[in-house]
Order: sequence, then C-alpha cells, then structure tokens
Amino acid sequence: MRRTHYCGDLRRANIGSTVRLDGWVWHWRDHGGIVFIDLRDRTGHSQLVFDPDIDANLHQISNRLRSEDVIGITGTVRERPEGTINPDIPTGEIEIVVSELIVHSKSKTPPMEIEDHVNINEDIRLQRRYIDMRRPAMRNRIMDRSKITMIVRRFFDEEGFLEIETPILGKATPEGARDYLVPSRVNPGEFFALPQSPQIYKQLFMVAGLDRYFQLARCMRDEDLRADRQPEFTQIDCELSFITPEDIYEIFEKMAARIWKDFLDIELPRPFPRLSYEEAMERYGSDKPDTRFEMELVDVTDIAKASEFKVFCSVAESGGAIKGINCKGGAEISRTKIDGLTKNVGVYGAKGLAWMKVSDAGLESNIVKFFSVEQQKELLKRFAAEPGDLLLFVADQKKVVYAALGWLRCHLAAERGLIDKNKWSFLWVVDFPMFEPDEKGNPTPLHHPFTSPHEDDLDKLESDPLSMRSWAYDMVLNGFEIGGGSIRIHRSDVQKRVFNALGISDEDAALKFGFLLEALQYGAPPHGGIAFGFDRIVMLLTGQDNIREVIPFPKTQNARDLMSGAPTPVDEEQLREAAIRLRL
Ligand code: AMO
Ligand code: AMP
Repeated sequence: MRRTHYCGDLRRANIGSTVRLDGWVWHWRDHGGIVFIDLRDRTGHSQLVFDPDIDANLHQISNRLRSEDVIGITGTVRERPEGTINPDIPTGEIEIVVSELIVHSKSKTPPMEIEDHVNINEDIRLQRRYIDMRRPAMRNRIMDRSKITMIVRRFFDEEGFLEIETPILGKATPEGARDYLVPSRVNPGEFFALPQSPQIYKQLFMVAGLDRYFQLARCMRDEDLRADRQPEFTQIDCELSFITPEDIYEIFEKMAARIWKDFLDIELPRPFPRLSYEEAMERYGSDKPDTRFEMELVDVTDIAKASEFKVFCSVAESGGAIKGINCKGGAEISRTKIDGLTKNVGVYGAKGLAWMKVSDAGLESNIVKFFSVEQQKELLKRFAAEPGDLLLFVADQKKVVYAALGWLRCHLAAERGLIDKNKWSFLWVVDFPMFEPDEKGNPTPLHHPFTSPHEDDLDKLESDPLSMRSWAYDMVLNGFEIGGGSIRIHRSDVQKRVFNALGISDEDAALKFGFLLEALQYGAPPHGGIAFGFDRIVMLLTGQDNIREVIPFPKTQNARDLMSGAPTPVDEEQLREAAIRLRL
C-alpha cells in the first residue's frame, strides 16, 4: 500500500478507514503493556497503538523501535477512548491501530532532542541541521519561509514583473563589502566576483527595455557578521523603468501589505510614514529607527553650552552636540547600573554618560550643581520630565552622540518592557545624503555609486558634494532596515561626474564599470529600484531575533558552515589548476 495521508492529516472523519502513513518515530510510551508511538512528518503527528492483545508480534517489534527510526505503517483509524482525547493537537481525537509495519531505516541516538522546549547549543544544531530542522518550530519556520516566497512571487506576477536570473559568476559590484572571489582556471590569474547584489545587471535589464524585474536573488558579501547579517543572504531584488520615488513607495508598501495580509492576516495602515535621514538621526540617533516606542533624543546643546559643566561646554564649543533621552520612571536605576551603561555606550565612542534623576524636589545628580535654577527648569521642560524619570546625556561629536543614544534608547526600551511586540512600525527613511565623508574627509557613497543625486542638488556635485541629497530610500520596520534602494543615474555624463566626485578616475571607472557606462549611452530609460532583505523579513514575520533561525544552512559568526566544515583547504592539484600559490 502507498502512503494515503500525511501524519498530521487525520481527523474524526477518518475514523474507521484503513490508512498508510510513513514517518519518523517521535515519542514512544508504554502504558500498561500497550505501546503508543507518535509518528511524525512535516505536517504533524498521529498516535499509533500497538496492543499485544490485537497483534503480539507487532507489539514486540514496536518495543524495539527507537526515536527517529523511519517506519511505514498500515492501520485502522479509531476514536480515542474517553479521557485520552488531546484537544491541543489537530489529530488529538483519533489513534491508529497498526496492522502492518515496515522499518525503512534505523536511527542512531540523535544528538539533540526533537523538541521545541529544550534549549540546544547552537553549534550542535548547526552541525546536524537536518535533525534540527525536524524540530517542529524550526521546521515550521522553514515551511513559513516557503509560504512567504510564494506570496511574494504571486504578488510580483500580478503586478506585471518578470522574474529573471542574473549571473553568479560576474564582476564585482560595489555594495560596500569585500568580494568573494572565484579563480578562473581557463583564464589563469583572473577572478570572478560573486555578486554582492545583482545591481548592475538589473540596471542593464532596464536598458534592455525589460522594465519591471524582480528576483529572489542570492547575494554574497564578505563582511563582519551580526544577528541580522549573513555572508550569503537572499534579496527580493527589484527594478522598474519610468518611475518616480512615489511609484516605488506605493508599489512596495502594497507588497509589504500583501505579505502581512496573506501571511499574518494583518492589515497594515498605509501610507507608511516618512522621515528624512536628518530627522531620523536627530530624533532617534539612527537611520533605521525603532518607532514602536518614543524616548526620542532631545537636543540640549544650548543649555549645556551656557552651563558651568566643563565637559559639556568644551564639547559644545568644539562644534559637538549634547543630547539626552528621558528614561521614564528610570530614577530607580542604580548607580552601578548607570556605570554599566556608561561602559556600554563607550563601545560607540561616548566618553561618558551624564545622568540626572528627577524627584519631587527637582533634578538630582553629581552635575546638577553646574546648572542654574533656570537651566534646570528648562531641562525639565524640554524632556517633559516628571518625578521618577531619569535623564541621560551624551556630549560628543554628533556621530558619536547619535550612535550612543540610538543604542541606549533601544536597549532601555527592551529592558524595561516598553516595546509592544505586536506592533509593526513601518516607515520610509528618505532624503539620504548623497555621500558621507571617509576618515580623510573624502566623499564615499552612502548607498552605492549608481544612485541619482537629488535633482535640485546636482549643481553642487563639484562644489559641495557632501551637502547633496540623493534619491535613495530605505524601508524600515521595528528598527531593522528591511529594504533599500534608489532612483538611478541614467545618463552617462552624470554617472561619470559622480565617479569623479568619488575620486574614481575615468580609467578606473572604465575598467570597473565600463560596460555600464557604455550601456547608458545606448538609450537608457529613467529607472530605479529597491532590494529587500528577505531573510530579515522572514525573521520578523516569524518573531525571531536572528536570521540564522530562518535560514536552513546558515554560517556562523566566523563565516563557517559547521555541518560541512566549509571553508576547507583544497589540495595542491586544484590550486595548481587555478594557478594559485598560497601565501600563508
Ligand atoms: P543593500 O546593500 O541596502 O542594497 O541591500 C538591500 C537589503 O538587503 C539586506 N541585507 C542583508 N541581509 C542579510 N545579510 C546581509 N549581509 C545583508 N546585507 C544587506 C538588508 C538591505 O536593506 N543593490 C542595492 C539595492 C538597490 O539599490 O536596489 C542593495 O543591495 O535588508
Ligand atoms: P567627570 O567630571 O569626568 O567625573 O564626569 C562627570 C559625569 O559626566 C560622569 O557621570 C561622566 O560619565 C559624565 N561625562 C563625562 N564625559 C561625558 C561626555 N562626553 N558625555 C556625557 N557625559 C559625560
């Protein structure tokens, strides 16, 4: 008999029928001489009954079955006796009296329990990911990922997008990370770069006239890894012709709304709010602000400058900023704890963390004496401070102040339970600067060098590039940058000027991106696009805080695959073929 049902399919309506199931032996129990086995597959599980009074031989065999053995059974579905019905599982009203059994394969004792509630060391999970993916929550996330993939594909199909693949072996694309290189055996000494994104190829699709493109594209970046970064990740990569940023906002809000509706049955309010980059930094200290809670940054540079507190005055005089946040009800936070936070913000370059507690009598701290009564009143007002609050300040160059307080507000909000976990706070961050200064003060692209300068700022390209805005936008959700893109440069003269502003010589530009520059001379439509971090979206939709939880075979923090052991050394012969000598 061939499989008639999945293990999670059977219901009361199947009572009396003969079924064939295949799956893994999950839980094994012996109750008063009768053996009960939960048989599991990706859909769930059903309870099998081996009763010695019905079939002594099968009962004996069932005694020898072990966790994770793979078996096939034929049996009759019957109603569970009163008192043994389990309302918590879909198959909880039935059980199967087994009449035939085959053992497809035996399992060694698994290195981890196939349970959700046990805490398993992540290295062990990654080493045997194929077993980890049998754990119901992990399995469901992988299945959810597939569901979300299908929702995305359906949406783009309906909206008239073409799904087109782009090369994996190609030329370096500048997304700001290091390239993974692949030697070419037939062209000794020459290398392909794995794509950091399909950026240039998708622009070439627009030049080709293919208009609306999308791809679930794999991107490879050799960069420092974090909870929301992998060396190999998936983008929902998109490009469109003859569009404005407004079209982009509309289409991709619609995409997000569709995903949230179809996957979570949640209606997202639209349009999404928009914040300029500058406002995001000023108010939240971050270009990907978590707007599920307030605790906004408050500027007090003017008050600090007029105070007697030397640290603040000197920072203000040297062009820095003094900003603070009001941690509501934080006055009970201990000095030791504040010392700990001071160390934490030190990671972002902050040289200290000044604090003031608010009591009925006013402000209290080691530095309050440096502020006049008037200044103290003004501080209370600006922070809308009430007794019981804690004000925390950082004085430094703006970049440091933003990074330190941007981290601190998120940290305190999480720790103090101020974040509503059911909230989805989407927003667009817009009006990015075109460039940011590197250590030497030279412009580097904030997005990538194909991003179009804002129309009104184009004449500043040579005179004052650092003050220019670009036509870039990011979609942010709950403090994560889930997508980013831009309107592109579609004129080769502008593209050349941008390369020049970036210090890329004409020869260098020709060498690296000559094929794009040339393409722009053969009739390039105005175009733009965006790419979403698909792993991040799935992570957020499934309530996880690490993208490894939604990637079947992820790499560790050290960019290793613990299961296969990759990367590994290769043998001398392969190196010789690729014309490579190691210099270790
Ligand atoms: P960007 O580099 O911003 O833009 O990438 C787009 C989105 O991809 C996600 N992302 C990552 N996810 C996991 N691991 C990583 N290492 C990682 N790096 C990025 C983020 C990000 O918002 N070609 C441009 C897009 C465009 O201009 O159209 C690009 O790749 O969610
Ligand atoms: P000090 O006078 O150096 O002991 O500092 C007094 C208080 O100011 C301490 O709480 C320090 O953490 C804090 N502080 C020192 N430097 C800074 C700074 N750059 N920004 C914010 N607070 C600071």
